[in-house]
Order: sequence, then C-alpha cells, then structure tokens
Amino acid sequence: MRCEAIVLAAGLGTRMNSAMPKVLQPLGGWPLLRWSVEACRQATGEEPHVVIPPEADEIRQAVGNEVHFVVQAEPLGTGHAALQAAGALNGKSELLLVTSADMPLLTSDTLRGLIEVQQANVGPVTLLTTESDPPRGFGRVERDPRGKIVGIIEEAQASPVQLGLKELNVGAYCFRAAWLWEQLPKVQKSAKGEYYLTDLVGLATASGQPVAVLKLADPNEAIGINTLEHLAEAEAAIRRRINRELMAKGVRFLDPETTYVEAGVRVASDTVLLPNTHLQGETVIGSGCQIGPNSILRNAQVGDRCRIEASVVEGAVLEQDVEVGPFARLRTGARLGAGVHVGNFGEIKSSTLGPGVKVGHFSYLGDATIGKGVNIGAGTITCNFDGKQKHATTIGEGAFIGSDTMLVAPVNVGPGARTGAGAVVTKDVPANTLAAGVPARVIRKLNPHD
Ligand code: UD1
Ligand code: MG
Repeated sequence: MRCEAIVLAAGLGTRMNSAMPKVLQPLGGWPLLRWSVEACRQATGEEPHVVIPPEADEIRQAVGNEVHFVVQAEPLGTGHAALQAAGALNGKSELLLVTSADMPLLTSDTLRGLIEVQQANVGPVTLLTTESDPPRGFGRVERDPRGKIVGIIEEAQASPVQLGLKELNVGAYCFRAAWLWEQLPKVQKSAKGEYYLTDLVGLATASGQPVAVLKLADPNEAIGINTLEHLAEAEAAIRRRINRELMAKGVRFLDPETTYVEAGVRVASDTVLLPNTHLQGETVIGSGCQIGPNSILRNAQVGDRCRIEASVVEGAVLEQDVEVGPFARLRTGARLGAGVHVGNFGEIKSSTLGPGVKVGHFSYLGDATIGKGVNIGAGTITCNFDGKQKHATTIGEGAFIGSDTMLVAPVNVGPGARTGAGAVVTKDVPANTLAAGVPARVIRKLNPHD
C-alpha cells in the first residue's frame, strides 16, 4: 500500500526560548528537521510533505528542494497543521504517516513498523506509544478497563488521575488516508484554541473503530524536543547511535561518550578515535588512522593510516600516511601528499605539499606549492599577503628551507635549492643554489652532495 508522509514543523517552539526556530536547532550535525525528513523518506520511499510556517526560507534551505513544503499560515495546532496538506495529498495514497519534526530520534525502522501495523489494522489509525517516567509533557493514552484505547488527553487538559497514566503518545501516527481527510475538518478547537491531531483517536473510538498501537522498543527514540534540555539529551542519544553504528563497522573508540561524530561523517574500519575528537560536516576518514585525542576535523578528507593528534583540520585533504600535530592547524585548500609530516604550530592554508614534505615546527604556509621531499625548517613563513592581495610561493622538489626563512611572495625557490637560517627571500632562488641573508642573495651553487 502506498504511504505518503507529513512532517509537522510549523509550531512556534516557544519553550526553547531561542531566536532560532526549533526545527533548525542543530542535532548531531544536522538541523533537527532533517532527522524526521530522512526517516520518513526511508520509511515510505516518498518525499515527505513538510508543514512549515510562512516566510521560512531558512527551513526550506535546511532540508533542500526535494521535499514538498506546505505552509501553515497560523500555528493553530497539530490537527490544523496536518489539514494544510490536504490539498496536496488528498487522494494520493492509501496510507498517511504523520510525525513531528521535534521527534528526531524516531528511526525509519520504527516508522516502517507503524505503517505495517496499520496495514493490518481494520481501524483507521495506529499510534506509537511508550512508557516513560517522567512523562515529559506528552499526551496520555487512556484505555478502558478492558484495555481498549479510549483517546489521548493532552497534559494541559488531563485530570490528576489521567496525569498518572504511564502510557504516552509519542506523536507519530499512521492513518488510513481517506478517513483522515474526512475526519480532520471535524476536530473541534481545544480550550487552548488549538486543533489537536490527537483528537482523531477519540473520534475513531467513539465511532466504534479500533485503534492499533505500536509500542516503542527503544525508549530513547521517544526523546522529543520541547526545550534545550531535551535537545542536549537527544544529542547524547544520537551520539551513542552514530558511534554504535561506526563500531559495528569496525571503528574503534577509546571512549564513545567523549567522541563527537556528526551524521554526515564516514570512517573506515580499523581507525581509532581517541577522546575529545570532533568529526564534523562531510568528513571522510580512511582505515587504520588514529585521530585524537583533542582534535577537530571539519569537512576533512583523510586517507588511510594517517595520524592526527591534538589538531584542527578544516576543509583539508590528506593522502595516506600523513602525520599531523600535536597542535597543527590545516585550513581550507590544504592538500597534503602521502607521508607528509606537519608538527607543532604548523598552519597550512590553500597549499599543496608534495609527498614526504616535512614541516616540523612553527610554520605558516599559505598559497604555496611545495615539491616532493622538501624540508621546511622551523619558523618558516610564507609572507603571502602584501596588505592588499595574496601571492603565491613555489618551492621545487628536494629543496631545503632553513630555519626562520621568510618567503616574501610572489617568489619561487627552485628544486634542490637551500636557504640559510634567517633568510628573507624576496627574489627567486635558482635551482641547486644556496641563498642567505637579508635580503637573501645566492652565495654559491650546490653540488649534488651538499
Ligand atoms: C504533541 C502531541 C502530544 C504528544 C507530543 C509528542 C498534540 C496536540 N499533542 O504535543 O500528544 O505526546 O506531541 O511529542 O498533537 N506544529 C505545527 N503547527 C502547529 C503546532 C505544532 O506544525 O500549529 C508542529 C510543531 O512544529 C511540532 C509538532 O507539530 O514539530 C508538535 O507540536 P508541539 O507543540 O511540540 O506538540 P506537543 O506539545 O509536543
Ligand atoms: Mg513537541
């Protein structure tokens, strides 16, 4: 049976006390909304319909153009929000999955389970429920003495006895679509002035139709986000989930609780992640690496067998067997060839380092192209900025740059050349010559044994 999905994301999120819309708050490296969109997409095989508030360009951008957007002009409740999708969805599918953007931990497996239960249900709706103490403000599921569902009572409307009910409405449902579109307009305004989607459960039972239930296997999936405290709880749960999946694929963690891997990151097997390591964005790491402790990798590409210790790597590409840190910073456009070594206080930006280049200590390389096997002495700086423009430095294969060399760009150092300690290089240094002094002059030619 075909099943379309609606994700409710137009609420005000007032309990967050944040200027940022609730559905855009970051969770595991994604905006909150993306989690439910991806789960619905996988569970139904269709692009979900997302109900958003007016003028929500940021929300649209956060989940991309593939999904369908439906605007709810005013936040008049979850029932009203779902009804806004009627125009787009009425008659399109036999089943309808409805879930909330603020329930990001619900997995596609759970949502698929919900669809399957509804497929077998003769009644019009299946609910997802859980048991949790404290009840976290969730609606309570009320049953009659024989265990048959009577309805859902929102916390604000519940009597003291109802408040004590342990079974909670998680906020994800699968409906028989035709029934939903017929009944939704009949929902009455609540005392709070909102139209509650949850009232449909009472409407079903009042007309003598059975309501089916799927109980959540993992209560962690029921962490809903209404406050920033909930968001932090969800972050920890997502972290555990991501790390568990990586461990199952052969990635080793010394301490998964203090290793922070975002959803878009890929790590190959036999890599070890050490504590206080943050892998962010679209970072990709090969196998046999050791990353951390105390490292941040953001949109980094790291080949096999690399070692990165106490360093920050952002937008950089590392081929295999590269050693970085401790205390190095690789910035956007840094490309490190196989076997490169960058030691403490090396900063590299928009530069290509050929295989085997060594930058042992205290150096800045910006807008530079450095040939194979070059040794960059301690304290070397590419002076790439003249106050107005950036300029390039090239250093040929096998060159040796003496400690504390200033390379005033644009400048080229030829293959096999050397610079003396403290040289300030303002003019090109020909291949196989030694330049020294301030400003540096060629003082002799080098023979291959020098
Ligand atoms: C809702 C349920 C409650 C359930 C809980 C689980 C209702 C009436 N109550 O309560 O039974 O236990 O979820 O998480 O449904 N939204 C809109 N437009 C609106 C109002 C809300 O799109 O006008 C969206 C919100 O962005 C949110 C979702 O619907 O993603 C749920 O709204 P929220 O206000 O968080 O409802 P809860 O109080 O959590
Ligand atoms: Mg909520």
